[in-house]
Amino acid sequence: MEEKQHIGTLFDRIAKTYDRLNHLLSFNADKRWRRKTVRQLAPCQKALDVAVGTGDLAIEIIRQEKAAQVVGIDLSTEMMRIGAEKAEKLGLTGRITFEEGSALALPYPDGCFEAVTCAFGIRNFSDLDAGLAEMLRVLRTGGQLVILEFSYPQRPIFRGIYNFYFNRILPGIGKRVSKDAHAYSYLNRSVKEFIHGEQMVVKLKEIGFQEPHLKTLTNGISTIYIAKK
Ligand SMILES: C[S@@+](CC[C@H](N)C(=O)[O-])C[C@H]1O[C@@H](n2cnc3c(N)ncnc32)[C@H](O)[C@@H]1O
Repeated sequence: MEEKQHIGTLFDRIAKTYDRLNHLLSFNADKRWRRKTVRQLAPCQKALDVAVGTGDLAIEIIRQEKAAQVVGIDLSTEMMRIGAEKAEKLGLTGRITFEEGSALALPYPDGCFEAVTCAFGIRNFSDLDAGLAEMLRVLRTGGQLVILEFSYPQRPIFRGIYNFYFNRILPGIGKRVSKDAHAYSYLNRSVKEFIHGEQMVVKLKEIGFQEPHLKTLTNGISTIYIAKK
């Protein structure tokens, strides 16, 4: 499977340094963003976290939703191995399961989750529409979709600072810490080329989600998209 080979192995390679770099490069803002993302969820018992990676969003769901069970799915076995270790250390092994598979062909029946989440995952999908359609399919009617993704600052001054940081500083630190030259220049490109803001809201509506809306975070560096089935 080409997708597994390209994206899965890219994340397998950077898995060991992924968490550290996330916190370092975002000055720990990623932790705040994930907390806020999970706060958008209504109480739920069965959630699917798509592109679960090293599990930080899934763990945050368990922290905030005392009755929730979370299934996490991802293409990268290494990212999930680290996630499973973290879950075990936190005593959450029975509440989060990590399963290998593609967001573009979710191995679950229609309507079986009350909530579907995805943090910093959709940008990597080779077919965004197919990934979103799968999320809609596995949600039960009335269930919630909450997506956290990088976007692009609107205010010119902040955008200038952002561009300088993203183009000049971040790839160098990413390369040095992860020892992977490609991964963090890929991050830079993938953020710029990806749709965001109102365009994404329109996309969610087209796919068939109800009441899609967004909340921007930290001057638009990231955005939370919220919708229902
Ligand atoms: C930037 S990481 C985000 C991980 C985690 N959600 C977080 O918040 O830190 C992106 C993850 O998406 C996964 N991914 C990308 N495309 C995927 C797909 N089509 N199906 C499943 N996982 C995918 C990658 O393997 C990687 O673990």
